[in-house]
Amino acid sequence: MRRLIVSGAIALAALVTGAGAVAIAAGTTPEAPARQWKFEGPFGTYDRAAAQRGYQVYQEVCSACHSLSLLAYRNLTELGLTDNQVKGLIKDITVTDLGDDGQPADRPARLSDRFKKPFPNELAAAAANNGKAPPDLSVIVKARANGPNYIYALLTGYVPFDKLTPDQVKAYSVTKDDNYNTYFPGHRIAMAPPLADDKVTYADGTKATLGQEASDVTEFLAWASEPHMEDRKRTGVRVILFLLAMAGLMYAVKRQVWSDKH
Ligand code: HEC
Repeated sequence: MRRLIVSGAIALAALVTGAGAVAIAAGTTPEAPARQWKFEGPFGTYDRAAAQRGYQVYQEVCSACHSLSLLAYRNLTELGLTDNQVKGLIKDITVTDLGDDGQPADRPARLSDRFKKPFPNELAAAAANNGKAPPDLSVIVKARANGPNYIYALLTGYVPFDKLTPDQVKAYSVTKDDNYNTYFPGHRIAMAPPLADDKVTYADGTKATLGQEASDVTEFLAWASEPHMEDRKRTGVRVILFLLAMAGLMYAVKRQVWSDKH
């Protein structure tokens, strides 16, 4: 609703001031197409294998720029991995801690460590990425409208400069150094296309197409955004069953109590 009001206001402002380009920018970001996700619906659960592959994509590609600060490595056991499997996954990651002498020193990551941040702070992150800091991905799926569909569409929605129409180039002032993304509001995005076919080699042998990688990393980020969703849904189902049983019981009691009053 708020977006509607905002885009309405922008369109109105554009009409008044004649700044047509702004109206185009706000009005032509298409809605991300709906996809089937196993975790949707009242009984939906995460696809553990997809989320594990998604971790691999995050770790090998996205973690160069994006932090995932709300997760610790031990949380990966919730994806169906044992402690030892997670230790194997993180064996090459080093984190900076304090040594015995109180000076910063590198040591191998432990299960209790939070996910390693690629940059020490936001300014450094922005400075390394043409002035736009890559956002933390911990809750990105919840933070964007139509979250999973949007993230998937974003990762697969880049259009190379030579495939753009002259109108698009003009309307969004795209140069060949910019990245054009169909689903990013305003289309010009500071993130270069992070994924492509065979960007990773999956440990489980799945073929790593662009679509597969995007779908897996989205599954992983959806889990990261709401790791307790399955518990929540299970509790919901139990509560509904309890209320149904209770309603039946109350009805029986009511009939019993009123049986000789009719
Ligand atoms: C080379 C650095 C880099 C890599 C690697 C990278 N990103 Fe980004 N990402 C960025 C930057 C910079 C932005 C901010 C873009 C902007 O606001 O214009 C961003 C923004 C995003 C956004 C937010 C878009 C929005 O709606 O605001 C998402 C989601 C995202 N990246 C996901 C990913 C995923 C998933 C991966 C791994 C497959 C990844 N990124 C890899 C640099 C990177």
